[in-house]
Amino acid sequence: MKEIKTITCIGAGYVGGPTCSVIAQKCPGVNVHVVDLSQERIDAWNSDSLPIYEPGLKEVVEETRGKNLFFSTKIDEAINEADLIFISVNTPTKNFGLGKGRAPDLKYIESAARNIANVARENKIVVEKSTVPVKAAESISRILKCNRKAGIRYQVLSNPEFLAEGTAIKDLLNPDRILIGGEQTPEGKEAVDALASIYAQWIDDERIIKTNTWSSELSKLAANAFLAQRVSSINSISAVCEATGADVDEVAKAIGLDNRIGKKFLKAGVGFGGSCFQKDVLNLVYLCEALNLSEVGAYWHQVISMNEYQKKRFASLIVKCLFNTVTGKKISILGFAFKKDTGDTRESPAIYVTKYLLEEGAKISIYDPKVKAKQIMMDLTDPQLGLDPEKVHKLVTIEKDPYECCQKSHAFAVCTEWNEFQELDYARIYQSMLKPAFAFDGRLILDHDKLVRIGFQVEAIGKCVHSLPDSPMESGINDIFGKQLLARNRS
Ligand code: UDX
Ligand code: UDX
Ligand code: ADP
Repeated sequence: MKEIKTITCIGAGYVGGPTCSVIAQKCPGVNVHVVDLSQERIDAWNSDSLPIYEPGLKEVVEETRGKNLFFSTKIDEAINEADLIFISVNTPTKNFGLGKGRAPDLKYIESAARNIANVARENKIVVEKSTVPVKAAESISRILKCNRKAGIRYQVLSNPEFLAEGTAIKDLLNPDRILIGGEQTPEGKEAVDALASIYAQWIDDERIIKTNTWSSELSKLAANAFLAQRVSSINSISAVCEATGADVDEVAKAIGLDNRIGKKFLKAGVGFGGSCFQKDVLNLVYLCEALNLSEVGAYWHQVISMNEYQKKRFASLIVKCLFNTVTGKKISILGFAFKKDTGDTRESPAIYVTKYLLEEGAKISIYDPKVKAKQIMMDLTDPQLGLDPEKVHKLVTIEKDPYECCQKSHAFAVCTEWNEFQELDYARIYQSMLKPAFAFDGRLILDHDKLVRIGFQVEAIGKCVHSLPDSPMESGINDIFGKQLLARNRS
């Protein structure tokens, strides 16, 4: 088995950057070169201000950069020097043509594969790291084989990354498992073993799973689909809780203590976001449809529908509580990232909550400790979202301070579970807001009783929080199905 001395990673994003930084740290004898088309991104990786925020990442990069970890745009050179090449480029959902809204767009993967075939002068192991549709390895393999220089051999492996943002370094250092899929031939197995020997430098053998290529590719989609399904399932129960007086945190605890179900991924909230869940579930749906398994596709599509419903339901609740109109009213959004401890906003529920409120004419003020103002404006003016950019610039302000953000607003809505939101001085916030002052907890992180005592009208996903007697909720309001909100009337 050929020892791997040099690794190149094509794509310096959320997956490629942290993964290669940890490999460099754990394998001091291996040279790791991360390359990207974007000079701006590479410059950021080489600076003190890394292009992504991840707890612990800076320390790992500072320890290894310039020793055995290098970032550059010299893609061809890096391909040639590598024994093994990770492809970690983006695979967004297609927003045009065949498979629009469902299929992943593989143009970046294809172009990386063509690039490898065009320049490689020696045998290479090529590893798909990006989440890809089942059978993508086969496509990469065909592109490489049809374009290779004489005598060059490739082995294509699937090695999906399971890291979650915000805990990427922790996940990479101590993963539940490493999955490596390859061809079931002697050469394929040898390539799988070569990659496994890299991970074996810090992960025990039992957690390194070797499968055929398709199982590996499908496992990544299935794992994300199962996780997303759990979130949609508990969110569906949160709607039932609000209508019955059950408490979704209590239900989640009761369910989760059944060890067949487990505790994790049962936190109800404003909906899931992130670059993976929606994309991968849609990817699975597309695969099922292509395989004539329409019932299976429809089953998984419900996970997405429930998520859409949850985001809309939260925004509708805000409108309804604010006496059925938010036109011209200031509403503060606390948190714009798709989860805490990341500056990433891809598919963040906050984008959609803001969109629905803007469509109702609200003035929106946004605070997030890590997301840059430029990013928020880019998200809200993205043509795919369908908002009028002029209206966005007119109605949206971005604040650097949570207290400024809530000043003179009718309501604040927590959309990301940042720890710092639990420590804010809510009495001070209450004083600065218009009355009645509403608090909407979309992540179930606040102390609701305390907020009620301060004077807030409190609404939380999956709960019926007791409000003061003059609460508009007491008069009996209809939910978006037009049914009576039983528990709210009861309180
Ligand atoms: C179930 C619950 O497990 C139990 O907690 C509750 O009190 C009553 O309902 P039961 O119906 O007796 O218990 O059996 P269970 O082991 O849950 O199996 C139910 C069905 O699911 C069976 O047909 C079983 O074959 C099937 N099953 C279960 C699978 O097909 N695959 C599995 O992985 C597990
Ligand atoms: C996910 C997978 O966890 C990871 O294994 C895979 O490699 C990439 O996709 P990520 O999207 O980074 O990771 O974050 P994750 O922690 O899974 O959260 C996804 C979304 O679900 C977030 O918006 C989060 O707030 C939401 N979520 C998660 C809930 O609403 N409730 C939960 O209980 C868990
Ligand atoms: P992920 O979350 O999957 O890591 P990102 O969008 O964060 O996705 O990162 C993907 C990176 O891949 C981007 O920085 C992009 O510039 C880079 N990229 C895309 N195609 C190529 C290519 N053919 N060669 C080099 N880099 C590429």
